[in-house]
Amino acid sequence: MGKQKKRRQPSQKLESFFGRLEQIVGTSVFRDIKNTFTLRPTTFRVNTLKATRQEVIDAVTSSGLKIEQIVWYKDAFILKNKSKRDLTDLDIYKQGKIYIQSLASMVPPLVMDIEPGQKVLDLTAAPGSKTSQIAALLERTGELYGNDINEIRFAKLKHNMEQLGVAEDESINDPVKSLGDHEASNWKFTLSLENGKKLIATYPEYFDRILLDAPCSAEARFDIEDSKTYSFWNEKKIKEMAYAQRQLLLSAWSALKPGGILVYSTCTMAPEENEAQIDKLLERFEDAELLEIGLSLKKLSVVLKWGDKIFHKGIKKTLRVYPTKQIEGFYVAKIKKCDKLTPVN
Ligand SMILES: C[S@@+](CC[C@H](N)C(=O)[O-])C[C@H]1O[C@@H](n2cnc3c(N)ncnc32)[C@H](O)[C@@H]1O
Repeated sequence: MGKQKKRRQPSQKLESFFGRLEQIVGTSVFRDIKNTFTLRPTTFRVNTLKATRQEVIDAVTSSGLKIEQIVWYKDAFILKNKSKRDLTDLDIYKQGKIYIQSLASMVPPLVMDIEPGQKVLDLTAAPGSKTSQIAALLERTGELYGNDINEIRFAKLKHNMEQLGVAEDESINDPVKSLGDHEASNWKFTLSLENGKKLIATYPEYFDRILLDAPCSAEARFDIEDSKTYSFWNEKKIKEMAYAQRQLLLSAWSALKPGGILVYSTCTMAPEENEAQIDKLLERFEDAELLEIGLSLKKLSVVLKWGDKIFHKGIKKTLRVYPTKQIEGFYVAKIKKCDKLTPVN
């Protein structure tokens, strides 16, 4: 009989994850955040394409739900009493006037400096939490392109974009047909089901803003009570993700206009998927410049040394959201492509 593969027990996986986490954040922070890896409260965002903040506050509170407004994002709220089900039973939910989204997930679009009329790419978009937030920040003017490689997630993305009024069913463009369609209106929305690496070959230096909310090992979403949230995890997974992220990041960079801004984000704690990615980008491209992220939320220190690698000092400008029982950890980097410089080989 062949050797049976040894399966690691869930608790061993958590132990090795926590071992790494302690190295990443240091012992005292580790002790503080260890117990935040649990289910967090329901949080939501007003979909300003369909409703005003006040309309939502009135509808929610008159139904007996208590909410707390987020200081750094006035359109975001935490549900303080009642369950998620009570929220999704409301008409404003069914009408797409609110969208349930974790707080940390709302950060990347907020720091993209989006202005109406811009051309924006969301390279790995499904199920579209951030795509819809970007559409709202664009006030549905300009061009927005949402892409994902996964068919099942893509169906959810398409559904959400219709539900939230980002696109009417018939206005979701066929990416091929829509190429010649620029003058039709002041809003062009395109969805595509593609490998992000291929897609951007069609759009060299085209977009004003790009979001790469990268596929990742999702460590910040681990729930110690639910082994399904971490059973897939191991160090090999981190390496695989880091490889995929590198490919997507390089491609995204080539689709960004000089003067444009790329925001890179993950919901993981691993430096290989965070600081190391940005470090490599800075090493490869002289025209990449990190910008400060001005949101006033609690931050973790970024990692400037991991293994034998010392990262670029500019990495200090990137953001690690401090995980609490209300908000999960997140990594966000904001990078500007400066005007015309040649890449370093
Ligand atoms: C973190 S999730 C995106 C979440 C989304 N931005 C949101 O806020 O709703 C990462 C996504 O990347 C997609 N993905 C993974 N590899 C990809 C690739 N090579 N090209 C395009 N999408 C990819 C996955 O299918 C997944 O939906």
